[in-house]
Amino acid sequence: MENQSPSPSILLIIGGGIAAYKSLELIRQCAKRGIRTRAILTAGGAQFITSLSVSGLTGEKTFTDLFDLTDETEMGHIQLSRAADLVVVAPATADLIAKAASGLANDLASTALLATNKPVMMAPAMNVQMWNHAATQRNLATLRADGVTQVGPDEGEMACGEYGPGRMAEPTAIAEAIAKALDAGETHAGATPHNPVHNLTGKHVLVTAGPTHEPLDPVRYIANRSSGKQGYAIAAALGALGARVSLISGPTDLPNPAGIQTIRVETAREMLAATQNTLPADAAIFCAAVADYRPEIETAHKIKKERGGLTAIALAENPDILKTIAHHKTQRPELVVGFAAETDDVINHAEAKRARKGCDWIVANDVSPSTGTMGGDRNTVTILNEDGEENWPDMPKADVARKLAERIAETLNMLRPVNAAE
Ligand code: C5P
Repeated sequence: MENQSPSPSILLIIGGGIAAYKSLELIRQCAKRGIRTRAILTAGGAQFITSLSVSGLTGEKTFTDLFDLTDETEMGHIQLSRAADLVVVAPATADLIAKAASGLANDLASTALLATNKPVMMAPAMNVQMWNHAATQRNLATLRADGVTQVGPDEGEMACGEYGPGRMAEPTAIAEAIAKALDAGETHAGATPHNPVHNLTGKHVLVTAGPTHEPLDPVRYIANRSSGKQGYAIAAALGALGARVSLISGPTDLPNPAGIQTIRVETAREMLAATQNTLPADAAIFCAAVADYRPEIETAHKIKKERGGLTAIALAENPDILKTIAHHKTQRPELVVGFAAETDDVINHAEAKRARKGCDWIVANDVSPSTGTMGGDRNTVTILNEDGEENWPDMPKADVARKLAERIAETLNMLRPVNAAE
């Protein structure tokens, strides 16, 4: 019999704000979209709505701070934080935002936020002054850097009579954002439990992505056009299969993928150090477009034009991160994958690169300007390994990422069968 995918689900944390009443409508809007909700009602939230009305709409027990050891035997707070595909905080009060940003865990809601391994989405709601306060904005920036996504707030008249940003987004808008996040496979849901061959639970995969910036002086650097899109999509796709992913990224405009530990670096040497610090890993995917050379000298002061005659920049070779990790004596990941961005004779160059770098697979692609691959949303790749080559048709980078993540899972699970793990 074929496996039936269970409907997607969220853990909704209802904070203590007047907007809590809108969360009841949010549960209804999610149900309309086939999304199940289990809720945590904070002590503050319970001042505005009752757990009875929440349970009436979710059809499930509502968890509160009265959650006691009896509940722990039924469902521990760790399991509660991980059973859903996405954790949604609505309304996300200034207090809940501050707790999550600083990693406090002194009640059920904040503990669930710290214990979860699932992406988190917040719908802030608070008074306009509280919203504008530097502390709130600082906390939100921290959460964004941690991969938390945000819906709203809206601007308008508030319950307190003031006007401005701080009103919780409308339940339909939040439900739409939830459905989109669940659909985009930005969660760790779905793929993991049903096809054991594609299950990466318990595996650690590191991914490098983006360009590197190699400074010449405090304001100038050498860089390349890599957007990081393909690497970020691969990190998200591996996370969706249950892997613990460490994404080591050069400077990009992209937000951290939801639920993925993202380490931001600037230079090739920083990227190498971060990669080495992230070992051991079961697999390593080297997507970054690392600058092969850096200015030999980084001057402490801006180079002045009037000094005249800057006709050449002396360059020093950067470390080859992929080659270093592929030849690691004690901690070589079981599977090492490199990328080869070429503009001509793609396959021959890629095969030579596989041998030279010592990696198991090369994902080769043509980055000639006419292909639009660099910075674009689509990619045409060929996978080369010791058995030969496989050409994939042109497809969105997200699909390349999904297929590649599945292929990585199949390979890792063949190297070490899932049932033998842990
Ligand atoms: O030699 P080339 O830059 O074409 O090799 C591309 C592959 O090597 C990519 O997987 C890239 O991430 C990796 N690489 C690296 N460190 C470098 C240069 C490339 O990890 N310094």
